[in-house]
Amino acid sequence: MILIIDFGSQFNQLIARRVRESRVYCRIVPPSITIQDIRKYNPEGIILSGGPSSIYEKNSPKTDEKIFDLNIPILGICYGMQFMIHAMGGDVKRADKREYGFAELKIQNHDDLFQAVDPRTSCWMSHGDSIKSIPRGFSITASTENTPIAAIVNKNKRFFGLQFHPEVHHTPKGKKMLQNFLFPICGCRRNWTMKNFARNAISEIQETVGDKKVILGLSGGVDSSVAALLIHQAIGGNLTCIFVDNGLLRKNEAEKLKKTFGRNMKINIRFVNAGGKFLKALSKVTDPEKKRKIIGKVFMDVFEAEAQKIKDAEFLAQGTLYPDIIESQSAFGGPTSVIKSHHNVGGLPKKMKLKLVEPLKYLFKDEVRLLGKALNLDEEMIWRQPFPGPGLAIRIIGEITQKRLSVLKEVDATLLEEIRAAGYYRKLWQSFAVLLPLKSVGIMGDQRTYENIVAIRAVTSKDAMTADWAKLPHKLLGKISNRIINEVQGVNRVVYDISSKPPSTIEWE
Ligand code: XMP
Repeated sequence: MILIIDFGSQFNQLIARRVRESRVYCRIVPPSITIQDIRKYNPEGIILSGGPSSIYEKNSPKTDEKIFDLNIPILGICYGMQFMIHAMGGDVKRADKREYGFAELKIQNHDDLFQAVDPRTSCWMSHGDSIKSIPRGFSITASTENTPIAAIVNKNKRFFGLQFHPEVHHTPKGKKMLQNFLFPICGCRRNWTMKNFARNAISEIQETVGDKKVILGLSGGVDSSVAALLIHQAIGGNLTCIFVDNGLLRKNEAEKLKKTFGRNMKINIRFVNAGGKFLKALSKVTDPEKKRKIIGKVFMDVFEAEAQKIKDAEFLAQGTLYPDIIESQSAFGGPTSVIKSHHNVGGLPKKMKLKLVEPLKYLFKDEVRLLGKALNLDEEMIWRQPFPGPGLAIRIIGEITQKRLSVLKEVDATLLEEIRAAGYYRKLWQSFAVLLPLKSVGIMGDQRTYENIVAIRAVTSKDAMTADWAKLPHKLLGKISNRIINEVQGVNRVVYDISSKPPSTIEWE
């Protein structure tokens, strides 16, 4: 494995992604990690990440300098390189101004990191300080016009430094450089596969849980579904899933879930039909944040009441993912600091004093999908678009009533049918319908109508932080609109949302 010491760069998750894409396991750890803990991990190599600080700042992050006596290959990136050079007696020059953007890298030495990389290649710079002089034992391996010391090596110690960022796409040969570090230099093997992960995770769960009972809140999303499958394979009948049907799901979702998990996979599931409770609590509420709060609270009440019925449960399982953990650990603090509560579960049932099991907490979303595949989860479940915890409640603008809910369910089902048939479902991050609190005049046959308007929202995105409205073909949009207006009673107008995020958001509420 590879350890990545987190000095706070915004690109750290990308370093981890590149390493894992090369099928090598890695963990991001804070600089406060002790030498003993590093030894316990027994890494093949260590990457010192970039970071926003200058090593001259009083509170800049530092890690124990004994790391340089461990006889483990080390790659310092940007701030990580400066930290290494400073610690080993070189000079770091304070910046007059930041260098940001593309630069042409001139490679002088093609051994090690730059094997099979062209002598001239682009690299991405984002730094203030730079290296002024290198300590004994080091030599310069590449430079750019503004940065004469852009890459360095200490062959004896197997230490490497890059002033630029090999992990970003803007450094086209960056992945090759990282792989040169992983394989010829560190001697890693490509053994990080989801089959291996599943095998290890199953025995870890068995060790942690023993013969005790585990409760899991199943939402139907890919994370909780994969967590359920994995834990079920580890402990079988000692896992009980609770599925709270809040009545705000897409058409037929609850039935599909029953079939997939209950009937096909024989997982214990308690279905709680709480649609009435949610609808009652939401009655006459129009404010989006109030809706969310009410739904969160009713969910916790219902979940807790159901969980209390499961005697002797000692563990609560959650489908927390690695980005949640990385984001919630402070850049320089310990990984054990606040961990974000799961969106759809909202934390531990307090009265029950359950211990947490989070078998996916070191995985990225696409790895969870691969794991689902390795565990034979339905393709349909694996590729489900994200669906918000508050469900259709935040897609009915204004008041939520049974009637409006059923109109939206029908519209949404028709929309998804067409999106799937046209082969767009997996290409889109999300696609859904929104019921507006407005009516418009229409004409059907010879009759004047005065009915609802729905908006169609379809976006592409990588992580929901930014999103672009999808350029769906006009023919497809036309078909969707025709079918909705003709088939769903109570709708006489369809509009398409052409706003991107930012400044809009994906959901309307
Ligand atoms: P926005 O609308 O903020 O959405 O651009 C970003 C992503 O988050 C989802 N979303 C939610 N998910 N509870 C959730 O579990 C919520 O209250 C919630 N609000 C938005 C949204 O569907 C999109 O994927």
